[in-house]
Amino acid sequence: MYLIGIDIGTSGTKTVLFDLDGNVIASDTQEYPLFQPQIGWAEQDPNDWWRAVHTSIRNVVSKSQADEVAGIGLSGQMHGLVMLDRDDNVLRRSIIWCDQRTQRECEEITQIIGDGRLIEITANPALTGFTASKIRWVQKNEPHIFEKAAKIMLPKDYIRYMLTGEFATEVSDASGMQLMDIGKRSWSDEILSKLQIDKGLLGKMYESCEVTGKLSQSAASLTGLKAGIPVVGGAGDQAASAVGNGIVMPGVVSSTIGTSGVVFASTDQIKIDPHGRVHTFCHAVPGKWHVMGVTQGAGLSLKWFRDNFCQEEIAVAGNMNIDPYVLMDQIAQTVKEGSEGIIYLPYLMGERTPHLDPKAKGVFFGLTAKHTKAHLLRAVMEGVTFSLKDCLEVLSELDIAPSQVRASGGGAKSRLWRQMQADVFQKEVVTTTSSEGGALGVAILAAVGAGIYKDVQEACTQLVKVKNSVAPSSNAYRANYDKYKKIYQSLKDLF
Ligand code: XUL
Repeated sequence: MYLIGIDIGTSGTKTVLFDLDGNVIASDTQEYPLFQPQIGWAEQDPNDWWRAVHTSIRNVVSKSQADEVAGIGLSGQMHGLVMLDRDDNVLRRSIIWCDQRTQRECEEITQIIGDGRLIEITANPALTGFTASKIRWVQKNEPHIFEKAAKIMLPKDYIRYMLTGEFATEVSDASGMQLMDIGKRSWSDEILSKLQIDKGLLGKMYESCEVTGKLSQSAASLTGLKAGIPVVGGAGDQAASAVGNGIVMPGVVSSTIGTSGVVFASTDQIKIDPHGRVHTFCHAVPGKWHVMGVTQGAGLSLKWFRDNFCQEEIAVAGNMNIDPYVLMDQIAQTVKEGSEGIIYLPYLMGERTPHLDPKAKGVFFGLTAKHTKAHLLRAVMEGVTFSLKDCLEVLSELDIAPSQVRASGGGAKSRLWRQMQADVFQKEVVTTTSSEGGALGVAILAAVGAGIYKDVQEACTQLVKVKNSVAPSSNAYRANYDKYKKIYQSLKDLF
């Protein structure tokens, strides 16, 4: 028996076939384009996602000759707007999560619903990333398209519709549409009526591990799978990775350094930051919520440093057939903790948590003639870690006080960065055995839906294994972290 996890990302779709112990049996990735018709706009074609999904399933099935699949889980980029007409034609390209065209619509939504009431119901302030403002943009700017809309759905829910014919969604991803009452885990009649969105346009709401439908005959012949395989709700990409890292109970949080950085906590009750600095959504675990802090320029900062200042390392690494980041790690290690006074603010793309400041900029502070490239490199890693510490501090204001942090994403590969996180957070930092985060997370949800495990917590205990623990060994960063916070406050008006 096998499980399939499908992650419909922004650069491509990754489909992974797991055995029932969570081992990867086969994996396939299919890429597709991102369209940016104007600055700040970001769109993708749902037909590209569907092609990538059925092709990647067919590829993993043929690589592995898997015949018995117990369940399929869907994950993917959140917030994207997909609209279908009455005959199930895609009405326009999807406006996806990173599209920034809807600042005005966000202001209108806040005004219509009221600042406090919006946060009370949807647990978040109006953000350009979320789906509600994208729907409003189409209502206003493309009324001829909006009036033809018969179904509004999220990216992975479009794939569900293609796989099963069921028009459905689940709580974790739907939270990011900003149309739900997050406390009640259902669509909010108040929000929908105030924004003039007919509830009939939205799919049936499920919990993430519930079976939402079965693989149809037509999808079966396209993918090479057998018809009738259960497809569970699945989850938005962040909640899915959290399940894949076992972040399903209080006491542990994940810290993910990808392009952006995310600190994610599972909570037993709904917890809302009244300032909106962290996102509160329903978790992919029934009856649980989650809170996540997002720092915009995490891995992106190190990549920026690599591409602009590390040509030599890139060339040497190429000759040695190793990743340039491995060499960069060795160089950063030649400098003491605290980078001899250099402090880096990683705000190359503005900042979400904790500043909610799109105008914030990157800074190197404290340069003297004795500093070298190695100091700057280490300071970049330290500054990114400080921005994650800021996320943890907001969580601690919400009484979330983890004893263990699970590092994931590309940044977790660096032993130096994990030790730095342990020292800056003053907490144990561990990694887990699987690097398939999101795909494993939804495969776990599929295993629960298929009845293999009693619940998500039990499945995570069986399938998510911790390795590589690092304990805090120094408190040398404290002074720099305090200065780091003051530097932003001093510069914020100048940004
Ligand atoms: C979450 C978010 C991203 C996207 C794309 O709020 O914007 O995680 O889902 O990865």
